[in-house]
Formats: sequence, structure tokens, C-alpha cells
Amino acid sequence: MPKGRSRSPPGLQRVDAGPGDTNWLTGRTYSKRFFEILKSRRKLPCWQKRQEAVDMVQKHQSSVLIGETGSGKTTQVPQFLLAEFGSGKIAVTQPRRVAAMSVASRVAQEMDVELGQEVGYLIRFEDMTSESTRLKYMTDGMLLRECQTDPLMSQYSVIILDEAHERTLSTDILFGLLKEVLQRRPELRCLVMSATLEAEKFQEYWSGAPLLRIPGRMFPVETFFTLRPEKDYLAAAVETCCLINVHEGPGDILCFLCGEEEIEKACAEIEGRAEETGKNTLVLPLYSSLPMNQQRRVFPPAPEGARKIIVATNIAETSLTIDGVVFVVDPGLFKQMLYNPRTHVESLLVSPISKASAMQRAGRAGRTRPGKCFRLYTLETFEKELPESTYPEIIRSNLSAVVISLKKLGVDDIVHFDFMEPPSPEAMMRALEMLHFLGAIDDEGDLTDVGSRMADFPVDPHLSRTIIAASERACLTEVLAIIAMLSVPPPFSRPRYAQKAADRAHKHFASGYGDHLSLLNAFQAYVSSGSKTQFCQENFLSERNMKQAENVRKQLASIARKAKLEDASGEMLTHSIRRAFIEGFFMQCAHLDESGKHYLTVRDQQMVAIHPSSFLQHKPEWVLYHETVVTDRCYMRNATTIPPEMLIEASPKFYHPERCKLHEHARKILRRALPRVKS
Ligand code: CDP
Ligand code: MG
Repeated sequence: MPKGRSRSPPGLQRVDAGPGDTNWLTGRTYSKRFFEILKSRRKLPCWQKRQEAVDMVQKHQSSVLIGETGSGKTTQVPQFLLAEFGSGKIAVTQPRRVAAMSVASRVAQEMDVELGQEVGYLIRFEDMTSESTRLKYMTDGMLLRECQTDPLMSQYSVIILDEAHERTLSTDILFGLLKEVLQRRPELRCLVMSATLEAEKFQEYWSGAPLLRIPGRMFPVETFFTLRPEKDYLAAAVETCCLINVHEGPGDILCFLCGEEEIEKACAEIEGRAEETGKNTLVLPLYSSLPMNQQRRVFPPAPEGARKIIVATNIAETSLTIDGVVFVVDPGLFKQMLYNPRTHVESLLVSPISKASAMQRAGRAGRTRPGKCFRLYTLETFEKELPESTYPEIIRSNLSAVVISLKKLGVDDIVHFDFMEPPSPEAMMRALEMLHFLGAIDDEGDLTDVGSRMADFPVDPHLSRTIIAASERACLTEVLAIIAMLSVPPPFSRPRYAQKAADRAHKHFASGYGDHLSLLNAFQAYVSSGSKTQFCQENFLSERNMKQAENVRKQLASIARKAKLEDASGEMLTHSIRRAFIEGFFMQCAHLDESGKHYLTVRDQQMVAIHPSSFLQHKPEWVLYHETVVTDRCYMRNATTIPPEMLIEASPKFYHPERCKLHEHARKILRRALPRVKS
């Protein structure tokens, strides 16, 4: 081996390597796999433009890079910049947790380093980085959070805002913050990357930042519409996948659905039917709560003679690219968080995708050769009902979390903050009003001591307020466990073949007070069980979700320790726990109406029902609920009974029968409870 070659070449040349070179980051000899992956990386469209990309970023403080999904933006461009910039760290933001994890893992392989060392990721409740991390894939929310302690983002020399077209709340806010930071740090570089949408809007916002377009290779995609609207999109999607599998030539299928549950259901059905036909088929789910090792299974090509059918959420639209897809099945729907500032109701709703999204989805079929896209809606629906593009999150969300974190970041004048698209004054006002109710801001709109402590926790203001209350009421350990359980997907599994057995097992955890305390029972039983795997199997709990909850609890506890919150376990736990939750959720309560059949929410008198999965077996007069979900009707998920006197005690402003603005029937119940109130 000639001696000279082992020294790494300067700058950008370091990303390319030949036999005998050593890894410029670690000094170790490259593995065989490195060279195998390198071969395919060299063919990516971004690779052709690497010098231009690097030059652009060096010359300008902020620039924009646009390229088709799969061209190598997320995996390659950060590596080019790291090689060229040499020192300093690079942050690459992703709107989705899965994307951050999956891409970091891929890039670690590409760079021939161990994940968590030179290349790592940081997502809420999981830090996979170390001292030596130079390339950090992270959710946009986590970068925002880091700004609380490091407002100048001083550990980074380059910040890449990836998937900017998604226009998440956090990315939109980072835009505004970065604009100011760039003025104060002339050496800092910012690169906005996006699929081919809205390029002009970004350039305009960044006052004429240069734009580099990566030319995409796209094969034609033939698009089909249904002749009549489909009644049941799930059944139609399954049917279409099965028909393609039988009647179409080789090539993988990518089918878009809305959530974990329906994806698993679809996978099971498609698998069953594929077995009947005797076709060699690999059916793979892809959604954000799927464990890493299972997520990774979607990437490698299907074995010779087999076909992959991937059933995925929106995540496969632009965040992750799967090679080999020739057929796309698109029901035209996705799950979107929608917030109505007038009624304060925030719900995850299945909504129609935009035309731009429909084009992106179809595009997934034409990456390697001509493909087909089957849209499960009519041409008329496409033309008349789909919006041009998805609304940015900022104009359709509950802003209270944003307001509190901006205040903590020292942005006091939120109304004049440089938003790319300012939220409506009404939504802003509602957010301020709610924070005021929670005691997070004072009459002047300044963050209170409570508000400032709330901002330490990466959870919704209702929950962070509950945490603060719990530390004052000697039930922090328990409340953190409940919040951890509330923030993971529902852990109680109910397989179709064993529903009765599952219900029986779950009954052991039931608390007469309702779901919050039942979740606590399940969590505590899990933590103290001997073999956790066995415990979960016997009790029909999802071990993955329980593990995740355990992890979330640990993270929250460590934040609480750093924030020096009191943690002692006192008496009357069930009382204290419910009292703590009321402090955060007194606006999320509902009472039985006169008929005794329906519940009405206190905030907007909306008719709601207790979710069928609830542990509550009776209909208490008052319940507190964690969230509402809308399916065939509006349900409260995770509900707990609350004595009316506790409501008056916790928030006399809101619940005093003589002063409150509630429904007459609600006031009647409260009036009856008044003598029992301890003042
Ligand atoms: O960001 P962009 O959509 O432009 O592309 P990318 O995510 O950087 O993907 C570039 C290539 O890497 C694609 O061909 C992917 O299939 C491949 N890739 C992979 O094989 N495994 C991953 N976990 C991620 C990407
Ligand atoms: Mg990408």
C-alpha cells in the first residue's frame, strides 16, 4: 500500500475514497461495506452537484437547495458540508422522529462509523449522540429546545433545515430565530432543503438567498383514478394492492394509509390473501412508532422473485425513500392535527391530502423505471376538493406550546416575530388566554415563575402545569409515570383471537377513578414485574409501548431533577394525583347533561362520549379527559372522574357556580357541591 494514500485528502475530496484510504473522521481503515455503499452513493443526483452545493453554502450565510425526493439531499449534502467545513458541528433537522433516526443510522453506515459516535441523532426522549458527534440529525422540535439554553446555537457551524416544505410549527419558528442568530454570528451557515415545492417562498423569506436545484431523474408515472368515490378506503386499498400483486408485472408496491392500527390491519389482510394466491410476497408496515429494526426492513431489495408491499403513513411521501417502488396506491388521505381556536378543540383528523402531496406520492412510483399510481378517488375529487398545498402547521395548531417556548427564549413581542406566515391573531390570543388561565403568564403577558418552570418540559402546557402541581402535592413520581403512559401509543393490546382474555387481564389494572390511575397501575405492575416480556404477554400489554413509557418517565424525571422539583410520595395519593391533573386540565373537563346520556365539554359545550376503551364503567357527573378523538362521533380518550368540589377548589374562577359561564345544569351540580368545598 503506498504510504501517501493513507493520509486523507483535503476538503470535499474526503467524501470520496479509494482502496487504501483511511476514514478521515476516525483514522480507521474503511470496511468492505463502505466501498459497496459508496458505489451507489456516487450515482445519486446530489453527488454530481456536490462542489456547487458546498460553494454555495460557503459563499452565502443562507441558501436553499431543492431536489426530488431520493436525490440524496438528507443523506449526502450534510456529509459534503462536514468534509468541507472540517471543524464544528452540523445540525440537520427533520420534522419526523423516525426520519431522524433512520437517516442517522444510514449515514453512520455510509461514513463507516458507529451510530451515536461521529454521526448521531437527537429526538424527544432519546439522545443518541456523544462527545464525538459531528453530524447530528435531530427533530426540529429538539433544536428549538436546545435554543432555550443556547440561543446562539453556538455548538453548530452549519444548520440544515431539511424537509422545509413540510412547514411544521417548529421549523417555521426556527426560521424566525435563525434569521436573528445569523445576524449575530456572521460565520454561521444555514441551508434550507426541500422537495420541489415552494422554492420561491423560501427565497423570498431569506431575502434572495441563492437556490441550487438538483436535477431529478424521473420516469413517467401513469395515473389512474376510480370512477366512483370509494366508501371504505381501507378495504379499497387492500383490494388494490392484492390486484396489483396478481395482475401486474414485477416491482414493489407502496400503499399510503393513515395510522398504525389500520396499517397493521391492512398488512394482515394483504398477507393472508397473498398466501392464498401462492405469490412470493413480503408485506411490510412502516409508521413512526415501529421499532428501528423493523423499520429498516423496508429498505433492502426483496429477495429474487419476490415482491415487497410496503404499507406506510405519510412518512414515505418525502421523508424516507424506498428504492424499487413501481406501484403506488394512494387513498388520498392523511392524519392531520387540526385545531379550532374558536372551540379550543385540537384533534387528529383523517383529512384529504393536497394536490402537491398527491403528486409527491405518485412520484414515488417513477424513481427507478416507469410506474403506475392508483388513486382511490375520482378525478373530480382531485380537481375540485384537494387543496393546492397543505396548510402550514402554524396556522392550524394550538399555539400555547409555541408561545411558552418563545417567551422562554426571550422573544417577548410575539406579535411582531418574523414568521414566514404569521398565525391568526385569534389563535394567538386564545393561546395567551389559556396560558394566563394556567398561570404561566401574568397580566402583562410575561412568563411567570410557574410558566418558566413549565417550559423546561418538552410536553404540552396542560401536562407541564400538571407536573408542577404534582411536585407541590407530593405525587410527582406517580404523575410522571402517568404522563409517560399518556404520551406513548395505547399499551393495552386486544388481539382479535383473544379479546375476552385480554379484557380479563386488563381488568386487574382497572381503577374505579378511571383511566389515568389505571394507567398508573399498569405501569407500576410492569416496572415491578420479574420478567417483563412474560408479564406483557400474560397481561396483553405491548412491551414496546411499555418500554417506551419507562424511557419517557426516566427522561421526564431527569428534567424534574435538574429543575429541582420536589419529589416525595405523600398520603392520599389518588386524591393528590387527580388534584394535580385538574390544575393542568381544568379546561378539559366535561359534565353529564340533564338526560344523563351525553357529556358536554366545559370549554365549548360540545357533545362528547367516553371512549369505548375506557376503564370507566359508569358515568360520573364530571370527568377530566386527556384528549378528544373524532371517529364516528367525538370521544374523550383517557378520562377520570373528578368530584365537582375539587373543580371549584382548583379553579374557582372557572368553576364557581355563581361566577362561571357554564351551562345551567352544570352550575346546578356545582351548587350542590359547594358546601363540601374546602377553602
Ligand atoms: O433526502 P432525499 O429525499 O433527497 O434522499 P435521501 O434520503 O438522502 O436518500 C438517498 C438514497 O439513500 C435513496 O436512494 C435511499 O433509498 C437511500 N437510503 C437508504 O438506502 N437507506 C436509508 N435508511 C435512507 C436512504
Ligand atoms: Mg430527505
